[in-house]
Amino acid sequence: MFTINEDYLKLPGSYLFSDIAKKVAAYKEANPEKELIRLGIGDVTQPIAPAIIEALHKAVDEMGQADTFHGYAPDLGYEFLRSVISKQDYKARGCEIEADQIFVSDGAKSDSGNIQEIFGKENVIAVCDPVYPVYVDSNVMAGRTGEYDSSAGTWSKVVYMPCTAENGFVPELPKDKADIIYLCYPNNPTGTTLEKAELQKWVDYANENGAVIIFDAAYEAYISSENVPHSIYECDGAKTCAIEIRSFSKNAGFTGLRLGFTVVPKELTCGGTHLHSLWARRHGTKFNGAPYIVQRAGEAVYSEAGKAELREQVAYYKKNAATILDGMKDAGYEVYGGVDAPYIWLKTPQGISSWQFFDKLLKEAGVVGTPGCGFGPSGEGYFRLTAFGTYENTCEAINRIKGM
Ligand SMILES: Cc1ncc(COP(=O)(O)O)c(C=O)c1O
Repeated sequence: MFTINEDYLKLPGSYLFSDIAKKVAAYKEANPEKELIRLGIGDVTQPIAPAIIEALHKAVDEMGQADTFHGYAPDLGYEFLRSVISKQDYKARGCEIEADQIFVSDGAKSDSGNIQEIFGKENVIAVCDPVYPVYVDSNVMAGRTGEYDSSAGTWSKVVYMPCTAENGFVPELPKDKADIIYLCYPNNPTGTTLEKAELQKWVDYANENGAVIIFDAAYEAYISSENVPHSIYECDGAKTCAIEIRSFSKNAGFTGLRLGFTVVPKELTCGGTHLHSLWARRHGTKFNGAPYIVQRAGEAVYSEAGKAELREQVAYYKKNAATILDGMKDAGYEVYGGVDAPYIWLKTPQGISSWQFFDKLLKEAGVVGTPGCGFGPSGEGYFRLTAFGTYENTCEAINRIKGM
């Protein structure tokens, strides 16, 4: 008789956003006349930029002609996309990342969930707390996290690195053994960043302790502060200890198109084995490539017209972020993030938990946000608002909150 992967049974409850969706649906049913503003889930609202739509149309037409039709894509992704990524995202910033170290994928969620497969089960993972839940849950599924303590909201074999207002949302280097360190900067959910000197400490720690860093840079496009690195490879020595994951979702609105990539430098080895070879093997076996038309759309992200249009799109969301940040400050809240990231992280008023604040905001302002505790125990007492709504809705949400 077959058995199941019992590690799945250890996963607590349902996924955070399903819980929110259920609460919102129940509220909507009881109050059908109320217009809700959703600043909860990190999905974009602006349409795909014209230069990218043009590239999509062109690629669709190519697929209809025998001489320009494309079937399965090359394992690592098309050269035209990998080489422009290498040039513009890396070499332009002084990072020597060649096209053959870039693996094109269908997004950062899959890559950040799947990357753990190439590591041994005995590795100890370290995560920031609060954290993007995929890093932890994918390791739970793989049986790497020990037992769940439901009262603490923690796993026995996971090293948690609290990021709170008290430490300026800068995690401390782990005191306990940590083999695989997940870092996400600009951060989801706190919207905060690490300066280059701070990130360098992590790279040095990883190199000195034989650890590997999984660096999720899905929000890189939102960085405007000078001293914040866009890539971990801006730090000395990162190529021997870090894997970087990127997404086209938030810089170019590809949440529905699906495109991302992972960089595994050839210098990154473990006991003589190249992690690049392992990820290539995994990619080749379990993934059959992002669609040709989507990779062509990705290429257009780097065209002069695409870049100009996307600068505007990102500026639009950054204006929303500033509106939320300033508006919430005016309303008397303690707020963080929102400068180099599309997320605003706020402290809930004294004595009000994250979920209580969620209910209050929903009932009194008709605004949906995300309770901080959904991202880890140190997120309790915090709340996340996203800048991905329309500008009009963002302004309306802030007015409603001010009127609460
Ligand atoms: C930190 C982080 N990584 C990855 C993702 C997923 O990106 P993608 O749409 O490319 O799968 C998200 C999406 O919200 C995210 O916040």
